[in-house]
Amino acid sequence: MTQAVAPGRAVREVSSLAISGGTPVSKTPVPFMSTGLAQADIDQALAVLKSGMLRAAKKCEELEQRFGAMTGCRHMMTCANGTCALQLAYEPLFAPGDEVLVPAWSYIATVSMIVARGCVPVFVDANPETFQIDVADAAKKITPRTRGIAATHLYGCPVDIDAVQALAGKHGLKVVYDAAQSHLATWKGKGIGAFGDAVTYSFYATKNLGTGEGGSISCNDDALARKIKLLRSHGETDKYLHESVGYNYRMNDITGAIGCSKLDRLPAQTAQRQANAARYDQIIAKIPGLTAPKTTPGGEAVFHLYVVKMDPSKFSCTRDEFCKALGAEGVPTAVHYPRPLPKQPALAKWDKKDCPVSDMLSARVLALPMHHDLTDEHFRIVEAALTKVAEAYRA
Ligand SMILES: Cc1ncc(COP(=O)(O)O)c(C=O)c1O
Repeated sequence: MTQAVAPGRAVREVSSLAISGGTPVSKTPVPFMSTGLAQADIDQALAVLKSGMLRAAKKCEELEQRFGAMTGCRHMMTCANGTCALQLAYEPLFAPGDEVLVPAWSYIATVSMIVARGCVPVFVDANPETFQIDVADAAKKITPRTRGIAATHLYGCPVDIDAVQALAGKHGLKVVYDAAQSHLATWKGKGIGAFGDAVTYSFYATKNLGTGEGGSISCNDDALARKIKLLRSHGETDKYLHESVGYNYRMNDITGAIGCSKLDRLPAQTAQRQANAARYDQIIAKIPGLTAPKTTPGGEAVFHLYVVKMDPSKFSCTRDEFCKALGAEGVPTAVHYPRPLPKQPALAKWDKKDCPVSDMLSARVLALPMHHDLTDEHFRIVEAALTKVAEAYRA
């Protein structure tokens, strides 16, 4: 069954169908992401399998050296995933009971690992234009118990690193940057690995550098790097000699090989994401009520996601209805994130302060398909679908 929709009408009931007469802009959905392996990735993984050297060895070391050099850090340490990368960074820097400023607008791991450390997360609101942590709000939330800042370079966009470092310097705070979504992002011409006490990455399958599972931590301090390496592998300094208590959070060489192989293509793929974002900016500028993401001045974003903001006064539908209609036209979307972190049941007990921008963003943002494999035809479909749905829902 198909249903035509009059422009401007509230069209909740048809949102699972294409807007005009059931004829979608495209019957084949635009791929939301591109996570496939190239033959070279498979060959490198196969070479490790054939060698029988499955544990963390040469390929993990190669990934550490090459990715580390590309991010501008002194030490890069691979690990099992981005969540344990955060845990490995937080543990030597923060003590139980410390207050740590955290983003209200991020993926849960940035904050849940602060809670796992026994620290008190103090939520900081987001900048409504860049979606990054609002450093002025962070400054207001500092108390005598504040010991650190955990800031996410969200969606591939750097936070205002100068402002974060200035605030940290003034109050003697440690800084961990969660760069799970921001491989190869830069700040004022330098890799983001040059800043803060530690930077963490995720290599989850959908990330800009995706190995399936995987992660890494970087830092520029020799003593901290030693502590992180010990924590990563049961505090072992010699065979069955354990200097301290730790974990097994090591990567393995199959993952390392995939990472090394994909790293060959990461700079070109990052440039393609940036070009695609510029192309989206032009499309979004033509649609009243939608706003393109803004990059923090001084930063170079790598567009893990391309996140658009809706002005509800310009549309007769909710964000979710808008997304559903786009999906019916062949354009899948995603919401990062449907709830700000203080509103997550797991973290609700820490919600002491308002984060109104994060609340607002949770109702208004949507991510469009973004990856290095978008074609002219994909852009044509996205533009036609956005235009069609925006006109149908025009307030
Ligand atoms: C901002 C952020 N931090 C941390 C993580 C956790 O990484 P992983 O899934 O590799 O544990 C993710 C993963 O989605 C993330 O997006």
